[in-house]
Amino acid sequence: DDPALLAAFQARIDAGEKIEPKEWMPEGYRKTLIRQIGQHAHSEIVGQLPEGNWITRAPTLERKAILLAKVQDEAGHGLYLYCAAETLGVSRDELTEALLSGKMKYSSIFNYPTLTWADMGAVGWLVDGAAIMNQVPLQRTSFGPYARAMVRICKEESFHQRQGYDIMMKLAQGTPEQKAMAQDALNRFWYPSLMMFGPSDKDSVHSAQSMAWKIKMNTNDELRQKFVDQTVPQAEYLGLTVPDPAVKWNEEKGGYDFSEPDWAEFFEVIKGNGPCNAERIEARQKAWDDGAWFRDGLMAHAAKQRTAKVA
Ligand code: ACO
Repeated sequence: DDPALLAAFQARIDAGEKIEPKEWMPEGYRKTLIRQIGQHAHSEIVGQLPEGNWITRAPTLERKAILLAKVQDEAGHGLYLYCAAETLGVSRDELTEALLSGKMKYSSIFNYPTLTWADMGAVGWLVDGAAIMNQVPLQRTSFGPYARAMVRICKEESFHQRQGYDIMMKLAQGTPEQKAMAQDALNRFWYPSLMMFGPSDKDSVHSAQSMAWKIKMNTNDELRQKFVDQTVPQAEYLGLTVPDPAVKWNEEKGGYDFSEPDWAEFFEVIKGNGPCNAERIEARQKAWDDGAWFRDGLMAHAAKQRTAKVA
């Protein structure tokens, strides 16, 4: 890329201007956005699976209606994000094929199983809580369509987080067995939630460039710390214990000390070796294959319309 063009581009970013799809952008900026927005979209779509697993087993009609709405919201988030990625010149089919072939990733968190109803509480509270922590700053990201998609997504994610906390509250105030279920869900989802923010800053290959371009607004460790600071008091309010004996308020830094997740486990999960990776990709592959007739039908219809217009 021409250095003068690059400098002018960086100056626009530094001035807080939004970059729009048809404007000039460095190839690296475009590629990084496609990677991040595409992975984000895949996460929303794959993220329906662990919760979809509980729709037929929700304990009441009300809980079922709420969970159904939440899972549908995640599908909507995936669709806005695929649309945002499409403005960068990549098709949804290409992105889906990259997911299915393992070329593109999706969030590590969705490779963990949801074993009990309490997991619906923990996922809403912790997983959606972590997602919001990351996505609220992304409303100010430099690429217009991505920033705008985040506004609605964040509103819906806040509802998701509250419904999760509400499930946890009911269980934590319920019978000793229910409270134990809530504690067990917290125990299993705590470290995987911390991993959602990505590797520690020293191992984050993309952070420096992505932050200079305002594709990312904070480092992985900054957001992880904010998440812990927000979540520990919420766990205390529930009367539950965060499964990390090192969690302790640190007056000097104005935040909690906590233990790092097991990064070896994280890297195994993102390589495809987590507890549910194979199952998740199988489910997406099946949905893709089962939908082929429908996509073909749409294409055939569009082709017919075009011929009719020409005639
Ligand atoms: N799960 C899977 N892969 C991850 C994760 C994670 N939790 N964290 C990091 N990675 C991958 C990165 O994608 C990158 O791999 P790649 O080069 O093959 O793409 C590698 O690990 C190195 O990490 P970083 O250099 O730190 O990557 P990056 O700068 O992209 O930061 C982050 C990762 C924070 C997830 C960033 O991409 C981001 O903010 N994405 C948007 C939010 C998002 O995707 N949320 C999805 C979960 S929330 C939800 O859907 C409900």
